[in-house]
Amino acid sequence: MSNQDKNTGFSHEKIETSNFLMIVLILVVVAFGGLVEIVPLFFQKSTTEPITGLQPYTAVQLAGRDIYIREGCYNCHSQMIRPFRAETLRYGHYSVAGESVYDHPFQWGSKRTGPDLARVGGKYSDEWQRIHLINPRDLVPESIMPAYPWLEKTPVDAASLAPNMRALRKVGVPYTDEQIAGAETEATGKTELDAVIAYLQVLGTHLK
Ligand code: HEC
Repeated sequence: MSNQDKNTGFSHEKIETSNFLMIVLILVVVAFGGLVEIVPLFFQKSTTEPITGLQPYTAVQLAGRDIYIREGCYNCHSQMIRPFRAETLRYGHYSVAGESVYDHPFQWGSKRTGPDLARVGGKYSDEWQRIHLINPRDLVPESIMPAYPWLEKTPVDAASLAPNMRALRKVGVPYTDEQIAGAETEATGKTELDAVIAYLQVLGTHLK
């Protein structure tokens, strides 16, 4: 009898015997847990503020980044060094969020058929990158990376860069009017190969 008294009013038994109530309450609890984890990230300086010295990509570097995405380089290359000794010994300082705040979308990834590229900037000469992209096997005989010979023969789409930079400015990349106005001139006469190399050579170089 005393057991029945306990079950009157709001009891656990009521929740456990009602599918609907159970589902709704589970959703509320899970949503709350998610919000507690996610919302603070938007207000944390270390995840939203650029590191000191971070520069937005120049017009040519930006063109290179778009080609990197178009060619699917991210299918084999991550751009995120994890904070483990084996990683930092091989690639350098682990990646920090403030390095990627101007990347829309960021290229962190996790698929590594090839090496991580987060700090490849300055690792090789422009000439090395040029030969490697035209035919990786000329430099690394056992390489399984595809060749990208057309990059050398294709001019950069210079006219598309200013609208691209204006769009990026809307989401917080601090491009100046002069940079946007000069984008087309900067990229005119450059090949897609020049652009990809310019992009690769700046990767990871801002963190001192
Ligand atoms: C099918 C997978 C694959 C794709 C796609 C791919 N790569 Fe690679 N990449 C590799 C492999 C494997 C290596 C290591 C062997 C070598 O150096 O060629 C490598 C090496 C590299 C290196 C030298 C990295 C280092 O630290 O030595 C660079 C730079 C690079 N790739 C850039 C690119 C770019 C840019 C693209 C897109 C245009 C691309 N890769 C597409 C597999 C790939």
